Amino acid sequence: MVKKRTCVFISGQGSNLKNLIFHSRDKSFPIEISLVISNNKNAKGIIYAKKFDIPYVIINAKHRNSDNKILKNLKKFKISFICLAGYMKIISNKIVKKFEKKIINIHPSLLPKYKGLNTYTKILRNYEKKTGCTVHYVNNKLDDGAIIVKKIFYVNSNDNKITLKKKTQIMEYKAYPEAIVKIFRNR
Ligand code: GAR
Repeated sequence: MVKKRTCVFISGQGSNLKNLIFHSRDKSFPIEISLVISNNKNAKGIIYAKKFDIPYVIINAKHRNSDNKILKNLKKFKISFICLAGYMKIISNKIVKKFEKKIINIHPSLLPKYKGLNTYTKILRNYEKKTGCTVHYVNNKLDDGAIIVKKIFYVNSNDNKITLKKKTQIMEYKAYPEAIVKIFRNR
C-alpha cells in the first residue's frame, strides 16, 4: 500500500499529532506524516516533529503571503492529504479549493453544536447531557463540512472543563485514526 503523504497543521500541544504519528507507523495505516505546519513558533507539538524526524515549518498565518508559503511547502513535500489537529486558524478558500475533500479537522464537540472557541465552557454552561468529538471535512467556514466520524459520551454532573477535555481527547485519539481509515477504505 502506498501511503498518502500527509501534512498535519497544529497550533498548540500536538497530542493529536503525536497520536497520528504513532498510528502512521503501522504498515496498514493509510497515511504517513510527511510534514508538520505550525502557525505558532512556540507550539509544544513541534517537539513531536523533531523527535520523529518529520520536517516542520512555522508559518505565521497573519503574514500577507502565508497562503502562498503554505501551498509552496505542500508542493515541495508532495502532500496529498491534510489533517488539522488543533490548528486555530481558518483555512483560506485558496487552499481549500486546491485540496478539495482532502482536508479534515477534529473538533471537541458534537458538531454542528458548539463551533469555534471555548467549547467546554459552552457545553457546561448549557448543561449538555452528552458531548464528544467530531472529525469532518474542511470547507471555508469555521468547524463546518461533511461529518466523517462522531464519538459520544455522557457528561457527569461533577464534570468540569479539565475532566471534559480529558474525556474528549481520549475519544479524539480513537476518532481521528478511525476517520482516516474510513476515508481511504472508501476511495
Ligand atoms: C483538540 O481537542 C481539538 O479537537 C481542538 O484543539 C485540541 C488540540 O489538541 N480543535 C479545535 O478546537 C478546532 N476548532 P492537541 O494540540 O493536543 O492535538
